[in-house]
Amino acid sequence: MEAGYREIRTPVFEHTELFLRGVGDTTDIVQKEMYTFQDKGGRSITLKPEGTAGAVRAFIENHLFQDALPCKVYYLNAPIFRYENPQSGRLREHHQFGMECFGGKEPTVEAELISTLFGLLTGMGLKNLTVHINSIGCPECRPKYHQALKNYLGERIRDMCETCRARFEKNPLRILDCKEEKCKQIVKDAPLILDCLCDECREHFSLLQSLLTARQIPFEIDPHIVRGLDYYTKTVFEIIMQAGREGLALCGGGRYDGLVEQLGGPATPAAGFGIGVERILMELRNQDLLPPAPAVTDVYVANLGTEMKIPAFAFAQSLRDLGVKADSDLAGRSLKAQFKFADKIAARYVAIVGGDEYARGVVKLRDMQTKEEKELPLESAAKEIADLIIR
Ligand code: HAM
Repeated sequence: MEAGYREIRTPVFEHTELFLRGVGDTTDIVQKEMYTFQDKGGRSITLKPEGTAGAVRAFIENHLFQDALPCKVYYLNAPIFRYENPQSGRLREHHQFGMECFGGKEPTVEAELISTLFGLLTGMGLKNLTVHINSIGCPECRPKYHQALKNYLGERIRDMCETCRARFEKNPLRILDCKEEKCKQIVKDAPLILDCLCDECREHFSLLQSLLTARQIPFEIDPHIVRGLDYYTKTVFEIIMQAGREGLALCGGGRYDGLVEQLGGPATPAAGFGIGVERILMELRNQDLLPPAPAVTDVYVANLGTEMKIPAFAFAQSLRDLGVKADSDLAGRSLKAQFKFADKIAARYVAIVGGDEYARGVVKLRDMQTKEEKELPLESAAKEIADLIIR
């Protein structure tokens, strides 16, 4: 990857404790969505409900903080499990592509992450993407905001849902994320965290905006993004899907300067994002951009009769040796049934290895679209077909 990120693969499961400490015990993920079980040694194990905590654990355990920092990693197709109500775009097992950068405190980190992601998505042809950004402050200024929010909510908290009431003391910021209509109505006039940021957070956020503007990345400030995980500090961002269900995010991420230390490592600023692979596919489909599935078989080698099975098998192998995706009969089918099969798997060509042709030293090649047929000399046929397919 051009921005210098290296691949990291972390296990599918981790100790439950990691997510309780990392993701936060008042979050929906920890309270409702984790697949947790005991292993044979009586340890509590959880299938990864997100990718960041595992990457941080690996960063600490492998002493990557002693390497040149920033240390930049990405994960691709990491399986993630959340016990959610399955519906379109919300799966119990999904896959994430994510990037995490450890050891960079400047907003250039977030700008680099967002530009790289934006380049990837626009490179796929996706349009109308807007990055929604917000700052949720740091341990210095967030307590002041919590107080302002609690002052505003005051008596109103009694009219809010049970979850909001439970969050009031422990994690009032998460109240802003409630999806209940009555809570949304109360929260819409609440004070904004952007008005309570300390100088450092304000400058960080302002520089990020200048960096995104310089890269011509369309963004909107959305003061209501708080994210569903507790580790974020300063910047949070999301890209919302254009079509499909309201409010479904294509991608989410942000800065998490306290997490490495909180999980037992040295104080290390960090930031990253995760994007759902299935949601990318959904958005590609919504925008009519899904490319046709690549052909699994370019050439189906049909045999005409029992004695042609061995030459047909050998011919398919010689095509494969030249890099052609070739297949031959494995089911003892008649020629007619072999053609039917070749049609079903959308083979571009059928090469017929038949007794008469074989005796004359040729194979017959049929273009399945144009239905044109031609004979090719046996000794050069594989090469000629390879040239035809791999131009
Ligand atoms: P997240 O927003 O919970 O963040 O998930 C990231 C992305 O994963 C979402 O934007 C969405 O595309 C996809 N996703 C989440 N849940 C589902 C689901 N049930 N079905 C299908 N796709 C889903 C995180 O997980 C953070 N670890 C991101 C991050 C990395 N922050 C910093 N570094």
